[in-house]
Amino acid sequence: MTTNNRIVLSSDHAAISLRQAVAAHVGAQGFEVVDIGPTTPESKHYPEHGAAAARLVVSGDCRLGIVLCGTGQGIMMAANKVKGIRCGVCADTFSARMIRQHNDANMLSLGARVVGEGLALDIVDAFLAAEFEGGRHATRVEMIEALEG
Ligand code: RB5
Repeated sequence: MTTNNRIVLSSDHAAISLRQAVAAHVGAQGFEVVDIGPTTPESKHYPEHGAAAARLVVSGDCRLGIVLCGTGQGIMMAANKVKGIRCGVCADTFSARMIRQHNDANMLSLGARVVGEGLALDIVDAFLAAEFEGGRHATRVEMIEALEG
């Protein structure tokens, strides 16, 4: 049996460089990186890029997603509008671990104008290494899903 270890990455124009650094870092760890861009520097609409990545996660094509924009906030908001997505913005490693362990987050968002590359890569590592703990947290995640209607 093969495990889906595909990680989708997407960003807007503000985070292309950090996204490419994350892609190289994640790829070097043996994950299959699905980097859906963009690659050109002109201004982009982060809702389109966040939603595109989110759809690859909810479809099951990718196990997890990482999205980036200037603050990480706008693209996170867009990703969370896609049913089945639980995406958190993180600027610290503790939160990155906890959104997997307690919230079963399936996407991480980073702000390229907020965190430097070294911290961003540590945040990514914390997110990817953590597993959902289930138990009482599963009940709460189900309650979040119920809010989606
Ligand atoms: C783009 O200037 C900026 O608004 C965007 O990258 C992001 O920070 C939005 O949340």
